[in-house]
Amino acid sequence: MTNWWRDAVVYQVYVRSFADGDGDGIGDLAGIRERLPHLVSLGVDAVWLTPFYPSPMADGGYDVADYRDVDPTFGTLADFDALLARAHELGLRVLVDVVPNHTSDQHEWFAAALAAAPGDPARDRYLFRDGRGERGELPPNDWESVFGGPAWTRVADGQWYLHLFDPRQPDLNWRNPQVRADFREVLAFWLDRGVDGFRIDVAHGMIKHPELPDTGLDEQISLLGHGELPYFDQDEVHEIYRDWRQLFDSYRGERIGVAEAWASTSERLARYVRPDELHQAFNFALLEAPWSAPDFRRVVVESLATTAEVGATTTWVLGNHDVQRPVTRYGDGDLGSRRARAAALFSFALPGSVYVYQGEELGLPEVLDLPDDVRQDPIWTRSGGTDPGRDGCRVPMPWSGDAPPFGFSSGESWLPLPEEWKTATVAEQESSGDSVLRTYRDALALRRAIPALGDGELEWVDTPEGVLAFRRGPDFVCATNFGTEPVALELPGELLCRSDAATGWNGVLPGSTAVWLGKIHEESA
Ligand code: BGC
Repeated sequence: MTNWWRDAVVYQVYVRSFADGDGDGIGDLAGIRERLPHLVSLGVDAVWLTPFYPSPMADGGYDVADYRDVDPTFGTLADFDALLARAHELGLRVLVDVVPNHTSDQHEWFAAALAAAPGDPARDRYLFRDGRGERGELPPNDWESVFGGPAWTRVADGQWYLHLFDPRQPDLNWRNPQVRADFREVLAFWLDRGVDGFRIDVAHGMIKHPELPDTGLDEQISLLGHGELPYFDQDEVHEIYRDWRQLFDSYRGERIGVAEAWASTSERLARYVRPDELHQAFNFALLEAPWSAPDFRRVVVESLATTAEVGATTTWVLGNHDVQRPVTRYGDGDLGSRRARAAALFSFALPGSVYVYQGEELGLPEVLDLPDDVRQDPIWTRSGGTDPGRDGCRVPMPWSGDAPPFGFSSGESWLPLPEEWKTATVAEQESSGDSVLRTYRDALALRRAIPALGDGELEWVDTPEGVLAFRRGPDFVCATNFGTEPVALELPGELLCRSDAATGWNGVLPGSTAVWLGKIHEESA
């Protein structure tokens, strides 16, 4: 047993936007395979691929019509096998995304459910109910869709079905044994092909309160991850993961499950990573914390304590395909860029595992000014154009060259890349000594070389207000200045890495900057 996940650096590939191998303007599996060397030189341990299964793409592929195949837009099963084999040759593990909470409305089961009469077993794979009101004209309860509007849609015969997301993503009924059995087969299908594990979409959602009670709340979505809701984080969901864990453990090679779970407290989140359940759960607390020393410290202390209690490690996440990119979240422009780079160094030095969302290693900002007619996120349409949604963090990767789409595709990219990304391309940053990419590569190489980093203990060091410093082992310190003014620090060790473009270390830490100090032992270098 290596317990590789306990301190793995996992890189999230948003498949549509990473690299296009066939020139149709949409990223695909062949494109990813060609670009794997970028991930090797970045120094990550594993890759998580967002859904690439056949899908009408009502929600970027999180609406799956067939869990055992590849959408032609992204390639074929043979392309998947080739990508997996190449990744393994290069020493990269591969996680695939599974979407068990809901299917696409184009899934054969949903077609069968619609064709069947109310009460038919075909309907029981989903959550169909009669409506309220004299003629059933009102939804069965007051639940809201995460994407806005009611979570129920009425079908021709008058019944309603539940969809916690878009109406084209009907929720499965996980109390139905057929659903459970089929999903086990889906997992086995990918495990047999050799995947190293799964990122489990909406892992907190599969079991709903059996009575489907009203929440009585006017606004429910702000409670996601902060409060209790009868459709999320129900105790019974853990039975499913106990069962899946047995399946994972029956395969050779430490296959893992990672929960995308939103729970009301970090204690409840830690329940997903108890020893007989999943291996990791995304810890979104750092991503949600404002840029401030006390907030970051509180999150670290709490996250480490709650996961330690169940014997697991935590995961550090600054961004993903659902949230505004860190550069923009932390203030945009130069300030946001400095903070995002410091936050990365801070998180890479913490105990546990780290997730890097594609483009973070280039310091990409959110694209805020996409034209309305190219936006594809259902949040944009369901909010009547009031919420821009998540397309701004899904703009394709800039690889090289002087003009959009910067080597992403030989065709026109599905979302336009900004002209200004000319200086942000991988090729450009490779040739510049002080680029974000260089900082990421240096830091991840050090993380591998220094045994005290990754899994293990952390000890806080006393520092002036606005600065956080912690020690890992006797010879390593990470210090981060959350303020804007420079602070003099008395810390031992030589400079290993710093988040700003400066060189050398004179004992003064500029604002919005993180620094790694220490000593590399000969034998570990
Ligand atoms: C995914 C989203 C998706 C939603 C519904 C999530 O949490 O990360 O991108 O829209 O699940 O599947």
